[in-house]
Amino acid sequence: MKPLSKIALIAIAVIFVSGTGVLYAGTAVQDVIKMENKAYKEHTKGIVEFTHKKHVVEYKVGCGDCHHDENAKPLTNLKEGDTVQNCIECHSKTEKKPKGKLPRKDELTYHYEAIHNNCLDCHKEFNKKNNTKQAPATCKKCHPKK
Ligand code: HEC
Ligand code: HEC
Ligand code: HEC
Ligand code: HEC
Repeated sequence: MKPLSKIALIAIAVIFVSGTGVLYAGTAVQDVIKMENKAYKEHTKGIVEFTHKKHVVEYKVGCGDCHHDENAKPLTNLKEGDTVQNCIECHSKTEKKPKGKLPRKDELTYHYEAIHNNCLDCHKEFNKKNNTKQAPATCKKCHPKK
């Protein structure tokens, strides 16, 4: 396919999807994302339903608190038309990390670590600050029973 017609097709696809999802950027996002990354051979835990839209609209979390560039610089100005890379493109390892502590840089190459760090650090901080347990910080509160 010629690059131009490919772009046209993507544009059409985006217009189509935007009826059901929220069009935040070049890629349409579902309001609720089923976190079931295909890179995992198997999901040992129940699939997390991540309320992407709620996090932005109700919990007022900025794009840059989760999305960043290849130098980990927060993408605070993400907007329509920008392409968003999935976390797995950089935090790409899905196998089990070896036992014991790794240097943080190596640890973060594991998708598991990057994701849990991102979600849990904020949730724990939020709970502590607000003296609540509203933001899920235990396995079962995010991963439903299989
Ligand atoms: C804040 C929500 C949250 C909490 C709390 C949480 N996880 Fe996860 N976990 C996720 C997300 C999101 C993924 C990424 C799944 C994907 O993208 O496929 C994940 C991935 C995983 C995976 C790799 C995929 C799989 O199913 O095998 C394992 C194992 C896992 N979590 C175990 C745990 C354990 C054990 C705990 C408690 C110590 C825990 N998680 C707590 C959100 C959470
Ligand atoms: C609380 C964390 C968080 C916030 C805040 C957030 N995102 Fe996301 N976003 C994610 C996660 C996690 C995914 C799923 C990507 C993955 O599985 O790698 C995602 C997916 C996306 C996707 C779809 C990518 C694809 O190819 O499927 C787009 C586009 C996107 N986000 C844009 C935005 C924009 C724009 C904002 C700000 C208005 C924003 N996000 C705020 C965490 C967040
Ligand atoms: C374009 C590549 C890229 C993408 C896409 C990406 N990251 Fe990262 N991320 C990095 C790099 C590089 C670092 C810094 C690693 C280091 O310290 O060595 C980093 C660091 C992190 C850290 C540690 C931050 C800290 O303050 O120490 C977390 C947590 C994280 N990423 C989660 C995510 C999540 C969740 C997503 C998807 C919403 C994501 N990353 C998408 C490249 C990326
Ligand atoms: C920067 C802060 C922040 C980050 C990062 C974040 N969250 Fe949250 N999350 C919140 C807050 C705040 C709440 C709950 C607030 C409340 O209930 O008042 C919440 C609530 C939730 C809930 C329960 C309510 C709901 O909407 O379903 C789930 C599940 C959840 N988050 C999953 C995730 C996952 C999975 C990630 C990582 C991909 C993530 N969160 C990243 C701030 C964050």
